[in-house]
Amino acid sequence: MRPAPAPSSRPTVVVTRKLPGPVEDRLEREFAARLNRDDHPFTAPELQEALRGADALLPTVTDRITTEVLSVEPLRARILANFGVGYNHIDMHAAKARGLVVTNTPEVLTDDTADDAVMLMLMVARRAGEAERHVRSRQWTGWRPTHMLGTKVSGKTLGLVGMGVLREADFVSLHCPATPETRHLIDTERLALMKPTAFLINTARGDIVDEAALVAALKEQRIAGAALDVYEREPQVTPDLLTMENVVLLPHLGSATQETRVAMGLRALENLQAFFSGAPPRDRVV
Ligand code: DGY
Repeated sequence: MRPAPAPSSRPTVVVTRKLPGPVEDRLEREFAARLNRDDHPFTAPELQEALRGADALLPTVTDRITTEVLSVEPLRARILANFGVGYNHIDMHAAKARGLVVTNTPEVLTDDTADDAVMLMLMVARRAGEAERHVRSRQWTGWRPTHMLGTKVSGKTLGLVGMGVLREADFVSLHCPATPETRHLIDTERLALMKPTAFLINTARGDIVDEAALVAALKEQRIAGAALDVYEREPQVTPDLLTMENVVLLPHLGSATQETRVAMGLRALENLQAFFSGAPPRDRVV
């Protein structure tokens, strides 16, 4: 094991959210880490204070790192080591213009996010959310052949967006990054291409779907249902969606397992270690 650097030579790293214990322990051993003990979401002034006062920021998807935030003077930070694969919450042009290195945490959360998509697909097709609410509210009177019939999943067609299958798929699952080009990719026109028996699954990013158009399609039964892990205005959810039984709603849980969140944190930490030792960080995106 590498010896920890002497305290005086440790770069200062501001960590914007609470991370799993093993990750925070290592960050504290290897850096002058400023942790977010109460896990509050950082405001824009707090992000600016961190950029002014630390050598590095370890942000997450809940931090809006805009051009304005990045216009801070003086800028001490040299790297944004993002905890997460998606970095649409960081203004990349502004980061580049300010000479900041940006890294992410790819690969380590792919399996969990795929599991999340499969879970959502099964939940929405087999009415699992609605069924659980039914049992918990003590409405269940017993087994019967016509009770809560869902849609069979085995043997159906799964469409992964990007492969041109909207018209044929029984399940349309989104797996593209959020970029200006993919904003509202799933809009009224594309929802109209889907079969009325099809379900939309989103574990990617909320703003790929026009939530108002989705609500309209669901209300008019132009699609059979939707299962969402991410939202256009997180953590707000369009109120109509909350009232629909054929919609499954999860709170951005794609990578939320102990193992994966530790792996993501350690990957961000490795990117920081590489950067401060003068080596190219493995996951540099800017
Ligand atoms: C990711 O890694 O992009 C996840 O959505 C968590 O931010």
